[in-house]
Amino acid sequence: MNFNLPVLAPSILAADFTNLESDVKAALKGGANWIHCDIMDGHFVPNISFGPNVVKQLSKVAPDAFIDSHLMIENPDQYIDLFVEAGSELISVHYEVCNHLHRTVQKIKSHGIMAGVAINPATSLHNIEPVLGDIDMVVLMSVNPGFGGQSFIEDSYDRLRELSDIRESGEYGFLIQVDGGVNLKNITKVAKAGADILVAGSAVFSAKDISARVNELQEKLSA
Ligand code: DX5
Ligand code: ZN
Repeated sequence: MNFNLPVLAPSILAADFTNLESDVKAALKGGANWIHCDIMDGHFVPNISFGPNVVKQLSKVAPDAFIDSHLMIENPDQYIDLFVEAGSELISVHYEVCNHLHRTVQKIKSHGIMAGVAINPATSLHNIEPVLGDIDMVVLMSVNPGFGGQSFIEDSYDRLRELSDIRESGEYGFLIQVDGGVNLKNITKVAKAGADILVAGSAVFSAKDISARVNELQEKLSA
């Protein structure tokens, strides 16, 4: 799948779940076409969000959106089939919970969808080097996972640049997604530091006019 990089990826974790359809449609109307679904199990992260059923409803109301499921859960292998059936076109799992990361990546790809690996701010980039040739995306967590509305961890800029260098020297083809704390103030700098996919939850869904905010963020990306 070709994307017009850099891409803004609204995270529905920050949406109004009593009006999820209208919030998502407002984001799409503003020009978003990649939706980030934050799945949290209360074990890997200290929060519980939603499951495959919400992703399924989402893919029904937004059939043209690219749906990316970020699994912040233990034992992700047990849930990959469910999130594929629900309509995920990309599934990211956390390095920190995968005893057999290569096998998990292969399992995702065996469904014909894209595979991502997410790493927490305290995880070295070098831990995932063995799978960089197999994956479609690295999710660089720029907050500690579990909640929206947190502040961007400034060290993420250096990690982003280091990951871009690793990609270039290794001639890898993976996308780089930055996830957490992206907003109107830092989005341009994050993109310039090498992010291809920029997740934004509260920056999008806390706005009075979601469509206008998506448009505003995308303007900054094309600046
Ligand atoms: C955090 C999630 C992020 C978060 C983004 O664990 O992975 O996707 O929801 O929300 P903001 O943009 O508000 O930091
Ligand atoms: Zn996320």
